Amino acid sequence: MPLENMKAMLSKAADEAYAVGAFNILDYNSTKAVVLAAEQANAPVIIQTSAKTVIFWGTSAIVSWVRQLAGSSSVPIALHLDHCKDLELIEECIESGWTSVMIDASSKPFEENLALSQQVVQMARPRDVTVEAELGAIVGVEDDIHVKEQDAHLADSQQAIEFCRQVGPDCFAPAIGTAHGVYKGVPKIAYDRLEEIAAKTDVPIALHGGTGLADDVFRKCISLGCAKVNISTQLKYAFIDGFVAYHNANNTQYNPLKVLEAQFNQLKTGIIEKIKHFGSSGKA
Ligand code: 13P
Repeated sequence: MPLENMKAMLSKAADEAYAVGAFNILDYNSTKAVVLAAEQANAPVIIQTSAKTVIFWGTSAIVSWVRQLAGSSSVPIALHLDHCKDLELIEECIESGWTSVMIDASSKPFEENLALSQQVVQMARPRDVTVEAELGAIVGVEDDIHVKEQDAHLADSQQAIEFCRQVGPDCFAPAIGTAHGVYKGVPKIAYDRLEEIAAKTDVPIALHGGTGLADDVFRKCISLGCAKVNISTQLKYAFIDGFVAYHNANNTQYNPLKVLEAQFNQLKTGIIEKIKHFGSSGKA
């Protein structure tokens, strides 16, 4: 199927109380693992790229892998740019075939975040590209965005309502206490804040920092309005561990395709498991 944007897939997910998994890919093998996992689970899926991954491979390589894999697939697939502060890169992705982008101006003062997010919505709309925007500060490291624990803060509900009213994002990422990377201790999720923001903004919410959250946390967040769950760190671990474990167990073989196959299998198994937890299996 041709790539689609996030609009229909997130509104169906919000209506039916499940979430679409958004998985950060690293290369062709991991992209293929995301698409084949979604196929096997018969689930819609979001292929997500960090800005660094886009810069590493270039837009045309990524678009060609994703279009080729989506073209022979029967499930709805979106190609989304994760946390991006650089308007030029956002524009390049929109021009190159991304169907969705995230502007992350959350480190800026509220008015500036609002203005930059509005600007991206204006750039994206004519190309039928959906937009995710963020408010508050999510702790941890994602791409080149580093937020220290002492600097993290939840999204303010009144600001969130005003932000969504003025920006009109297709997906909203308020900081609600989750973290990028590996959790140190049990995360404190501000469920009340999530519930209030989701109900009052009526915009599908993106749950960032999906790696390491327990099943019941996913269920509760989804029931309160999260329609997209981001998973990145889990794929980074599977990418390296799948590769290294195979080689360590077969260290005289030096057969790269076997190593890539082991890496692919480890990625795909973990992705299918997450899709099941998000309730999106069978929802394609
Ligand atoms: P994790 O790396 O914790 O899975 O978070 C991913 C994410 O939110 C990407 O935006």
